[in-house]
Amino acid sequence: MAMTLTLPPTIITGAGASENVGEQAKQLSATNALIVTDPGITKIGYADKIAQNLHAAGISSTCFSDVTPDPTLQNVQDGRKQYTDEACDVIVSIGGGSAIDCGKGIAMILTNSGTSGVACKPELAMGKFADYMGVDKIPNPGAPLIAIPTTGGTGSEVSKVTVITDTERNVKMMLSSACLLAHVALVDPLLSVTTPPHLTAAVGVDALTHAIEAYISKRAQPITDALALKAIEMISGSLRQAWADGENIRARTDMMIGASIAGMAFSNSSVALVHGMSRPIGAYFHVHHGLSNSVLLRDVMAFSVVGAPARFADIARAMGEPLDGLSPMCQADAAVSAVERLVTDIQMPRLGEIDKIDKEKFENVIEQMAADAIASGSPANNPRQATAEEIVALYRQCF
Ligand SMILES: [Fe+2]
Repeated sequence: MAMTLTLPPTIITGAGASENVGEQAKQLSATNALIVTDPGITKIGYADKIAQNLHAAGISSTCFSDVTPDPTLQNVQDGRKQYTDEACDVIVSIGGGSAIDCGKGIAMILTNSGTSGVACKPELAMGKFADYMGVDKIPNPGAPLIAIPTTGGTGSEVSKVTVITDTERNVKMMLSSACLLAHVALVDPLLSVTTPPHLTAAVGVDALTHAIEAYISKRAQPITDALALKAIEMISGSLRQAWADGENIRARTDMMIGASIAGMAFSNSSVALVHGMSRPIGAYFHVHHGLSNSVLLRDVMAFSVVGAPARFADIARAMGEPLDGLSPMCQADAAVSAVERLVTDIQMPRLGEIDKIDKEKFENVIEQMAADAIASGSPANNPRQATAEEIVALYRQCF
């Protein structure tokens, strides 16, 4: 079976990579950039630095800094309006996964809303957004996009996936298409030193989950296998240190680049049951995506291990677990215990310990969450298939 691998055409990694933004925008023939970010990133001065760098390259800019956690259709609509009102010709997204996902949504709707986007009324375009939900539903490549992550986590800068929340329906809409790929990814570990420990932990576990699920996915291919195992090695070898000391540049570098490699892996393989179950928790209870992955990861791995024991043993090996003399199943189980120790060491809470999640409300929506998980398609990639009843039982077990 033929397999496809798609990545951004240009990926620049390492300390200072973000300083290439002006030069890269110029190579995209840009004259006026829309910087897409959130208030926190603006406050610490990163958006200004990007604007200055663009300015030095002769490119003007305007800043849309209203991206919320779990970016919404409204965020995309507002950003799109500012892009057209200000006659921009490139998007520079800087921030965590939310800012980059929002930038991808804006870039996509600009070129997929009828007559090249510009002449289309925003509300008309947003009505169409849900039409592009799912896999390979987008006909045209998005407007030029440069993605600059500030947390070592989502891998959104290199992935063909975006998640935009429809707040009216309480649904996290997942869109996957090569048309969503950034044109340039600038992966600069120096930008991540300001990420606080709890966020470092959450986004780090998200990245680890991407790598693990890419590797065990039924859609894994040899190239994504190589990427996923390298990402597991880099992330599991540096997450504790990046959490313990945010200014440990070596750990930050391994986390940032490891998270990007994990993004390349899952974008071309897929995520699986953990992400399928995690998105509904985010949609109903508004907890951080990394946290909702973390509370599921151990139990869902333990559930899945019988479907691909040799693959789980490879994960354990990549995490540095001593496996000599163990039976094949014990080698596979070592991956679960290694993850358990890692999330405990970086003080990730259990599902039942998260204040935002009320047990009664959780029980009220548990069956709908299981249905939403299955509808997302991700659980179908899992090496062990889960029924709706088994997903409900897993949610309860994690609680
Ligand atoms: Fe994720």
